[in-house]
Amino acid sequence: MRYIDHQPCGNADVMKLAEMPAPEPRDGEVLIEVRYAGVNRPDVAQRAGSYPPPPGASPVLGLEVAGRIAKLGPGVTGWHVGDEVCALTPGGGYAEFCVAPASHCLPVPEGLSLLEAASLPENFFTVWTNVFDRARLKAGERILIHGGSSGIGLTAIQLAKAFGAEVYTTVGNAEKAAYCRDAGADTVFNYREEDWAAELAKATGKQGVNVVLDMVGGDYVMKNLRSLAVDGRLVNIAFLNGSKVPDFDASVIMVRRLVMTGSTLRPRSVEDKAAIARSLRENVWPLFASGRLKPHVNRTFPLGEVVAAHQLMESSAHIGKIMLEV
Ligand SMILES: NC(=O)c1ccc[n+]([C@@H]2O[C@H](COP(=O)([O-])OP(=O)(O)OC[C@H]3O[C@@H](n4cnc5c(N)ncnc54)[C@H](OP(=O)(O)O)[C@@H]3O)[C@@H](O)[C@H]2O)c1
Repeated sequence: MRYIDHQPCGNADVMKLAEMPAPEPRDGEVLIEVRYAGVNRPDVAQRAGSYPPPPGASPVLGLEVAGRIAKLGPGVTGWHVGDEVCALTPGGGYAEFCVAPASHCLPVPEGLSLLEAASLPENFFTVWTNVFDRARLKAGERILIHGGSSGIGLTAIQLAKAFGAEVYTTVGNAEKAAYCRDAGADTVFNYREEDWAAELAKATGKQGVNVVLDMVGGDYVMKNLRSLAVDGRLVNIAFLNGSKVPDFDASVIMVRRLVMTGSTLRPRSVEDKAAIARSLRENVWPLFASGRLKPHVNRTFPLGEVVAAHQLMESSAHIGKIMLEV
């Protein structure tokens, strides 16, 4: 099969088409003939050499796909050869064939194309488990979402709104701000033009928010903590500006009874991810059919143009998902 080789790790142009044997599905896995694969920021970090795959995972890039089930591994029930699915993969998505645990596959939501379905797993698994399981966002609460125009950000905005929260978000330009408002954000701050923490305090009458979803880190950490209301929760899913916190002062955590947490999806157990998949299927997938959620595909590149796809992601000029057609 054709796949994208990214060895040795480095800049985007290390990636090239290559050939290798298709993988074989093991116990509980399915082989998927991939039509579309999503590009995610963690792929960029893996390709650059700063985010190695966990033990046992495919060394090939690609954390989500959609396509047709080509073969069932031993013990798989509930899926058939020929079924169209989207799946969270442990790696290996940038290829013509990819294996995934059957329990990490989801049906294509009603009304969505295969391309749109491929754009969902990584973002929806990540946001669902971090914002709802870990940070326990509830209806009527306020959430601040950084990087609102990212794949993760747009997913978080829509899910938070769909489940009754008030949404504040930060973005880097006016076009992204308008897009996030259209996607449902109540209040958007352009962090290049205004001090988002001061504006958030004003907008909430100094009450702050109940939950912050952050991927920036660095000097955002103290601002995030100070932007939380009593009993607030900060959840970090990345540290794009570094995990060292200047002028860290933990007293605010004690005084306001805050929780600071975070997680990464990829190393979690097959069972954990299967539980997230079941919860998404039950609670979230029906919201696509009713039009309350929609995918946000920005651009689709042929697999052979993966270098341009990663360069677009690194430019941060995109809004929403960058996809590969295999
Ligand atoms: N923990 C997990 O399990 C998990 C899973 C998936 C993704 N993630 C993380 O979630 C984040 C979003 O992922 P994604 O795939 O949705 O990425 P993405 O679409 O590329 O979004 C990243 C966005 O963050 C904003 N940003 C703010 N500060 C930035 C900085 N210092 N460097 C780069 N971008 C910055 C940019 O928009 P502006 O122009 O508005 O700044 C950019 O568009 C990534 O950091 C990714 O690693 C974590």
